[in-house]
Amino acid sequence: MTRPSPDFHLALRVLHWVMATLVLAMLFIGVFMVSTTGPAYVALLDLHRPIGILILVLVLLRLPLRLATGAPALPDDLAPLQKRIAWGSHVLLYATLFALPLIGWGMLSAGGYPVRLGGGIVLPPILPHDLALYALLRAAHTAVALAFFALILLHLAAALMHGLVRRDGVLRSMTTGHRRPRTPSAGDDDVPVDSATPAA
Ligand code: HEM
Ligand code: HEM
Repeated sequence: MTRPSPDFHLALRVLHWVMATLVLAMLFIGVFMVSTTGPAYVALLDLHRPIGILILVLVLLRLPLRLATGAPALPDDLAPLQKRIAWGSHVLLYATLFALPLIGWGMLSAGGYPVRLGGGIVLPPILPHDLALYALLRAAHTAVALAFFALILLHLAAALMHGLVRRDGVLRSMTTGHRRPRTPSAGDDDVPVDSATPAA
């Protein structure tokens, strides 16, 4: 759904940046966790599980909100192929935000490990105890996390391209939003002239 506003809904923008921070933290926590032993390993895993489940809860809130409120239209001068790639990459980002925590939860379930979130909260297993399945999901967790890292780097490059090179308002649609009422001026090169009249 295209949104009749140049900006994402405020709640979606807040969720985007909270989740981006959590996801980046999780990728680094994950990598440090598997390259260390001893108390640091346990402390990092104790952080990794609840933050991962929090990401799952937040994406469960975010997707319906996104479907209900829509996204601002991309600039008209963006090639149709580029628009399709942007859409496809966002679908993949959402899919991974669901898949990675579920694989983590599933793999611990299959390995017979309790999914402790702290404060005495332990999640129930979502898969039967099966060591072959655990091995498969453990490898999948690494592979999907690495692919996620690569996708986020591409996403970051695209966002910076919009914000620093094209200056077409796409980055602003996910950050501060456009000023209202918006009138184009000589120094306002982040606001495309042809979309200068806000619709909402
Ligand atoms: C968006 C969410 C998540 C991200 C980005 C993420 C990322 C990672 C990364 C990068 C690793 C290191 C992989 C490697 O180098 O082999 C890892 C390992 C791991 N993750 Fe996650 N993870 C997420 C969610 C979860 C969840 C929800 C759980 C469990 C409830 C979980 C449990 C684990 C475990 C048990 C390991 C391996 C520890 C070990 O083998 O020593 N992850 N994760
Ligand atoms: C680190 C993890 C990140 C994740 C998981 C992520 C995820 C997403 C997703 C799923 C969307 C689609 C929004 C929607 O249609 O609901 C999106 C849009 C966007 N993100 Fe991110 N993002 C991340 C980091 C970043 C960073 C670091 C930047 C900027 C430097 C950024 C800038 C943007 C912008 C400008 C949009 C709007 C793009 C458009 O309308 O085509 N994101 N992000």
